[in-house]
Amino acid sequence: MFHRRSSVCLRTFVLFLLAISQSVFGQDSPTRVTESGTIMGSTTTVERVVIERYLGVPYAMPPLGNLRFLKPQAVRAWEGVKYANDYGDSCMQFPLPENVPTSEDCLYLNVFVPRVTLEEEDEKMAVMVYIHGGRFNSDTAASYNGEWLAAVGGVIVVTMNYRLSVFGFLSTGDRTAPGNYGLMDQQAAIQWVKDNIDNFGGDANRITLFGESAGGASVSMQMLSPQNTGLFQRAICQSGVAMSPGMINPDPLEATRALCEYLNCRTQDPVDMVTVLRRVSANELAQAAARFTGNFTERIWTPVIDGDFLPDDPVRLLERGSVPDRQLLLGFNEDEGAYLMNEGLPGYYIRDKATYNYYMNASLFHIFPTNTEAVVEAVALEYGSWNETSNVDALQQTFTTMYGDFAYIASTMQMANLYRQLNMATFVYQFTHARRSTLPAWAGAAHADELYYLFPTVRGNNPDLMTDDEMQLVESMMTYWSNFAKTGNPNLPYNPVLPTNWPRYTSSQRFIDLTIRMSDNSAGQYIRPRRTFFWTKMMPALDSQSCSPETTDDQDNTNTNPWLEETVLLGLRRNDLIQLGVVGGIAILLILVFFITCITCCKVLSLNRLMRYDDSKIGLSSYA
Ligand SMILES: *[C@@H]1O[C@H](CO)[C@@H](O)[C@H](O)[C@H]1NC(C)=O
Ligand SMILES: *[C@@H]1O[C@H](CO)[C@@H](O)[C@H](O)[C@H]1NC(C)=O
Ligand SMILES: *[C@@H]1O[C@H](CO)[C@@H](O)[C@H](O)[C@H]1NC(C)=O
Repeated sequence: MFHRRSSVCLRTFVLFLLAISQSVFGQDSPTRVTESGTIMGSTTTVERVVIERYLGVPYAMPPLGNLRFLKPQAVRAWEGVKYANDYGDSCMQFPLPENVPTSEDCLYLNVFVPRVTLEEEDEKMAVMVYIHGGRFNSDTAASYNGEWLAAVGGVIVVTMNYRLSVFGFLSTGDRTAPGNYGLMDQQAAIQWVKDNIDNFGGDANRITLFGESAGGASVSMQMLSPQNTGLFQRAICQSGVAMSPGMINPDPLEATRALCEYLNCRTQDPVDMVTVLRRVSANELAQAAARFTGNFTERIWTPVIDGDFLPDDPVRLLERGSVPDRQLLLGFNEDEGAYLMNEGLPGYYIRDKATYNYYMNASLFHIFPTNTEAVVEAVALEYGSWNETSNVDALQQTFTTMYGDFAYIASTMQMANLYRQLNMATFVYQFTHARRSTLPAWAGAAHADELYYLFPTVRGNNPDLMTDDEMQLVESMMTYWSNFAKTGNPNLPYNPVLPTNWPRYTSSQRFIDLTIRMSDNSAGQYIRPRRTFFWTKMMPALDSQSCSPETTDDQDNTNTNPWLEETVLLGLRRNDLIQLGVVGGIAILLILVFFITCITCCKVLSLNRLMRYDDSKIGLSSYA
């Protein structure tokens, strides 16, 4: 009793001091009340706008000890005032990020509130919540300073950390450790915004999620989760969606077993494995998990279809239309794969046909495991390097272009097409401004290049060194993005800085090119329909073909090619004129590729069979 009263006294005293300090120091140490307690931040001025910053605000209990591999728990309320002047630690990752300490105690968010005069006095500001990328295995909210976007856009910007790698995504594929804790962290942070942002002058009914790469995939997974109805209104996916290759691990138990074995668990039982893995020190676990992170599109510590947070395959969920109505803005960079040309990454090491073949297989094998070689050949044909044996530049270009289309672009357009078919508002962009860099001249805007124009200080970038044209692009993009957050339409409210009207993506499939010196000519129609078809329909079909004896024994199938039929049917059902045209050309091409594949693939088989069967039963038609 006494104890309690004294703490109330203390609290009153602190609030009293606070009131004094505020009147003394002006508004340099602004405070805001949240459901768990009061926080005190700081201010800064960007582009002549005063921004209140609240950094390192806890939104969930530290996921330590027995809370490891569990969904986030409600944060404990505090008395008095919590200082919110420093970013929270980054979530555990390995290798360690530069200059940002890591800790398992990392569930913190950051709020950037612009002091702007709103048109109507009682109007609340729209809120933009950023989810960072990094393959679900690296990076931190501290890399994304939201001050600029808050100042230019006149919106509240929130960034958050979420558990990464094994800490965020370990799964046994059952209820023991269902996985997706990192996604649930994001969800808890969004819920925090919903519950508290009113006290910051924000509109709890105008929350927009945005994210890049794995962050974009996260955003679309939050959209697809049935648990988030009413939690947010709009979404922006930059260069990554739920169905991008490698965003979901279909066999998490295998990875958990491999990790456990590496750490000498001596058990295969899910419950025991998780018990052991909870006791391993955070550092040791982070380092061990990094050995099983996977390369290219093989990703191990990623979201899973847990039947709960993520009930089903993303494409199926969208086809079924089982998603709440929200506005979606999404897009990609013209030459996503060009980032692989940087030193230390695969594109850089392609020096001849052998390294080309190696990296092609390594990139495609995990998504197309059955007929990888046929897929690699089809890529060579589609991307024009089929006749090249020694032209390194051509081989590098094929590899990086193919990787960008395959890993990011096709799936983004697949999502755009599925979403607009549900008649929900969709806006599509292609970002095309390539910065001066060390990349070859043919390289266009690479993965993550658009981030400079939303977070001008990202990756050590100095905004003072950006050209006037680039600063104009900063202003345009921030205005489109924040407009979308305010109204669900990037063009509204009208602002003379906007270079052109951004058409909605409908059956006429219009989009805009985001680049410097935009004009009305920056709007275009039909964006990569052929490559989208190639990667989302044709290659899956090609890979699903098998030359197993069971199939070839089936005489009923000898005169038809079910795979080709399916392809043509799909084309017709889609009812897109543009794709119909493509189907015809591609069908011919595919017959060729399939033909070659099956001859190669079944050569051994047919030789064996020739010795066992009548000649009459063995014809090429059996395999074509
Ligand atoms: C794949 O990653 C492992 C470590 O996770 C590494 O040892 C191996 O060299 C990588 N392979 C390729 C093809 O980069
Ligand atoms: C392709 O890559 C996979 C996985 O790294 C490997 O197991 C397989 O042997 C490779 N195939 C070829 C033909 O190099
Ligand atoms: C390969 O074919 C392309 C056209 O598809 C042509 O431009 C290129 O010069 C050819 N390269 C070689 C080595 O024949």
